Amino acid sequence: IIQFTNFMANSVFNDAYDLSFNYEKIPTEFYKNALEASKVVAKEIADLIRRKQAAGKPAVLGLATGNTPKLMYAELIRLHKEEGLSFKGVHTFNLDEYYPMQPDDINSYVRFMKTNLFDHIDIDMNNVNIPDGTIAKEDIAAFCQEYEAKIDAFGGLDIQVLGIGSNGHVGFNESGSHINSKTRLVALDYSTRYDARNDFGGLSKTPTVAISLGVHHIMNAKRVVLLAFGPGKTNIIHKACEGPVTEHVPASFLQTHPNVTFYLDEVAAAKLMKVQTPWLMGPVE
Ligand code: F6R
Repeated sequence: IIQFTNFMANSVFNDAYDLSFNYEKIPTEFYKNALEASKVVAKEIADLIRRKQAAGKPAVLGLATGNTPKLMYAELIRLHKEEGLSFKGVHTFNLDEYYPMQPDDINSYVRFMKTNLFDHIDIDMNNVNIPDGTIAKEDIAAFCQEYEAKIDAFGGLDIQVLGIGSNGHVGFNESGSHINSKTRLVALDYSTRYDARNDFGGLSKTPTVAISLGVHHIMNAKRVVLLAFGPGKTNIIHKACEGPVTEHVPASFLQTHPNVTFYLDEVAAAKLMKVQTPWLMGPVE
């Protein structure tokens, strides 16, 4: 059995061979490393943008921040600089922003997006939307409604890019978020703040709240791609993909999305049935 497991695992990792046979609750693809997976997702986004441009329609992207999508953004920049990918007519909506937060702060997601993507491509910055960490508290509810209305006016997001928190959050929809939750000011989980503490110079200086797109608009995206890399994601990917659908692990809601794929490296995928016991999932070719 051990030999068989190793054989199957090796064949999976060698060529990202799809063993799912539609038995997976969430379709997953995994690759030797984060770079390979990131290039696949960047290509999907580039293809979408080119398709929409050819049809004279806007491409509407839902974007994430954090460490995970950095290589994917780097590949999009490369496609722009070396392969003529233009971002004209592309509209973007970021998932979240800490609150309060000035846009030029080292930890602001506005700054993150400029540094990691927008400063290096030809996107019209008027088409960029990121939750505003500077608005007055009493204006947040109205701001969130407008943010959603703007997405709705496009008919929803064409693609939503996600990372995943170690507690299973998507955006900053922490454990306990409802599947129909709206864009709102959320309290950050201890685990989220703990994971971010080094960016802020310690836990006590780490924000306690953020504005986040709700689960509802993530689930409404026509296509969802979630990226997860490294050992810190192995357990939560297992739970999100193969555990019950539960608000304790908001990423598990994606089991009910009709067009979602998780792009993983082999470490993040290590506990999946597809790796551990692939013969339980269906006929092995
Ligand atoms: C960021 C976001 C978060 C992150 C998640 C993983 O916009 O919405 O859900 O995707 O916290 O963060 P990293 O990629 O830094 O591990």
